[in-house]
Formats: sequence, C-alpha cells, structure tokens
Amino acid sequence: MKELFSNFIGDFLAFANFKKITMKQSVKFKLNGQSVSLDVHGEESLLTLIRVYLDQTGTKYGCGIGECGACTVLINSEAIRSCMIFAEDLDGADILTIEGLSQNGELHPLQKAFITHDALQCGYCTSGMIMNAYGLLMQNPAPTREEIIVGMDANLCRCGAYNRIVDAIQTASKEMNKKVKL
Ligand code: FES
Ligand code: FES
Repeated sequence: MKELFSNFIGDFLAFANFKKITMKQSVKFKLNGQSVSLDVHGEESLLTLIRVYLDQTGTKYGCGIGECGACTVLINSEAIRSCMIFAEDLDGADILTIEGLSQNGELHPLQKAFITHDALQCGYCTSGMIMNAYGLLMQNPAPTREEIIVGMDANLCRCGAYNRIVDAIQTASKEMNKKVKL
C-alpha cells in the first residue's frame, strides 16, 4: 500500500512538472519602448523570445549558458545575459536591445565608435559588447581605461578585437558626455 501511494505521488509530481513545462503563460513587457504581450512557456529564455518570437535577431546566441555575453541586453537599465532569464520572470520588465539603441535613424555614439575604431571583425560578439558597454556607461559615464577593461572582462570576442573595443568605448563615453543624454 505504501509503495502504491509513493508511486501515485511520483506520478502526480511528474504530471505536475509536465504541465508546468508544456503550458503556456502570458507575459507582458516593453521591448525598445513598445509594449509586448506573448504567450510563451515560462522556462523559455528571453533570448528565445527576442530572436524566435519577436524576430529581433541583432541579439546573438553564443553559448546559451551565460558564459560569453553575446546575448547581452538591458533589463531595467542593467546589462543582463538574455539566455539566462526565464520568460516567467519578465512581466513588467523594460528591455532594450541593440535594435533600440539608434535614435531617429541615427546610430548611437557607441555604434559609431565601434565602426570608427574598427572594433569588430566577424561582428558576432558586437551587439552584446555594445549593450554591455551601454550598461557600463549608464553606471559610470566616464570610466577609466582600466574600468572599461574590468567592466567588459566577461564579454568574449573570438576575433580578439579587445583593444579596439576598449578604444571605441572610451571614444563613445567622451562623445556621450558631450551631447547625448543616457
Ligand atoms: S549566449 Fe548568453 S552568455 Fe553566451
Ligand atoms: S568580432 Fe568576432 S567574435 Fe568579436
């Protein structure tokens, strides 16, 4: 009888887990200033929502396990790896991706500086680098070179454009302090 009961509980928990995995739920958030409402699986990542559901492919899938930074976006003004955020935690969030950075058709100073300094080679890491840099400059608008290196340390570039990336962020920071309100 005891064994029967424990089998029943096991089956019930497995079923409950199955329901949790398969049932969709509604999430509402802002993406680049636009209200978004989606029916998604709670355990799907923000990266999947952005790229697959919303077809905004500027945010890249690198490792999928929070190690490379290619998928970095801003959530409520903080640079976050979107592959590590569950859909069920997004209700009410304000999300900014690389697509939302330019204003009135003009590239953001960070985007311009990456071009000017040739701070990309294949470009796969670039949107994550720029969004992480943007988050860094929101926290610290005039970082030293060393502070930029520390702040960007966990974003990986397989092409090794690190020095030019740091140069670009320094240039953008000066430009933003001149005329752009963060
Ligand atoms: S894809 Fe998210 S950290 Fe690598
Ligand atoms: S420019 Fe190729 S990975 Fe960074």
